[in-house]
Amino acid sequence: MTDFFRLGERMVNRLGYGAMQLAGPGVFGPPKDRSAALAVLREAVASGVNHIDTSDFYGPHVTNQLIREALSPYPDDLTIVTKVGAVRGADASWNPAQGPSELTRAVHDNLRNLGVDVLDVVNLRAMGDVHAPSEGSIAVQFTALAELQRQGLIRHLGLSNVTAAQVAEARAIAPVVCVQNQYNLAHRVDDALVDDLAVEGIAFVPFFPLGGFSPLQSSTLSDIAARLGATPLQVALVWLLRRAPNILLIPGTSSLTHLRENLAAAKLSLPDRTITELNRIGQTASLSA
Ligand SMILES: NC(=O)c1ccc[n+]([C@@H]2O[C@H](COP(=O)([O-])OP(=O)(O)OC[C@H]3O[C@@H](n4cnc5c(N)ncnc54)[C@H](OP(=O)(O)O)[C@@H]3O)[C@@H](O)[C@H]2O)c1
Repeated sequence: MTDFFRLGERMVNRLGYGAMQLAGPGVFGPPKDRSAALAVLREAVASGVNHIDTSDFYGPHVTNQLIREALSPYPDDLTIVTKVGAVRGADASWNPAQGPSELTRAVHDNLRNLGVDVLDVVNLRAMGDVHAPSEGSIAVQFTALAELQRQGLIRHLGLSNVTAAQVAEARAIAPVVCVQNQYNLAHRVDDALVDDLAVEGIAFVPFFPLGGFSPLQSSTLSDIAARLGATPLQVALVWLLRRAPNILLIPGTSSLTHLRENLAAAKLSLPDRTITELNRIGQTASLSA
């Protein structure tokens, strides 16, 4: 496996696993292949993954229930990070659920479905704009989670889909151990935030590290991958590992083959000139955005 970075009280492998893809199509309902989903989780942990990202709103409940079935009783060194702040509609929509009582209910849903007494890390998923960070106070929500932490239901707090100002606002209320925003080779809006968090020793956990529902495609990426004898998505993962020491990866997959490919990315080394070429993908993307 690759190297480590602090997440809460534990050092975790920088190559982790994101469980969202284990639910049914559109992250709704049961998986197409339940035994394959359980096998992916078990092989991830057997291969050294000790950081899994989830939420009770994946499914809803499905992903957490799969994690519990596959992995409980949990290994001592496993850190499960969950997120609260949304609920799913009957039409699979993602709706804000940011009131203190909704956040409390979500924490209890996660405790019950994961089958634990305390959650390792809970991210407040801001929903000002569902698809991207947008300014606005998150003090009421984060204070509610800090109270649940004080009650002993949560060990550590994090944030998701937030701006730098919201990170600062939350840190004045309670310590923040990780920030989970969209970020990858082609989507680099958070470049400055990644670096600022690195200075503070706070983990940055990119969601959609492979591009999400439409995995990254670029001729530069494909050419470099061919030269290195790797897949384009492996190169995209190694670029993130090289980008900053505080980046923790949670690529999502429902496939054992893809899981193995993603974990094998840790062994790939990128020459410096390749990094320069890959950086141009993000610059071109921001010019054309
Ligand atoms: N905080 C938030 O708002 C938020 C939002 C989205 C996601 N997340 C978290 O971030 C994690 C990662 O995001 P994500 O899963 O949405 O996106 P992702 O990791 O960028 O990409 C997942 C997609 O890539 C495919 N894939 C994975 N490995 C592959 C490989 N080696 N070769 C080819 N295709 C591959 C997957 O399909 P297959 O299943 O077929 O492999 C899936 O379609 C999620 O699991 C979730 O825990 C958080």
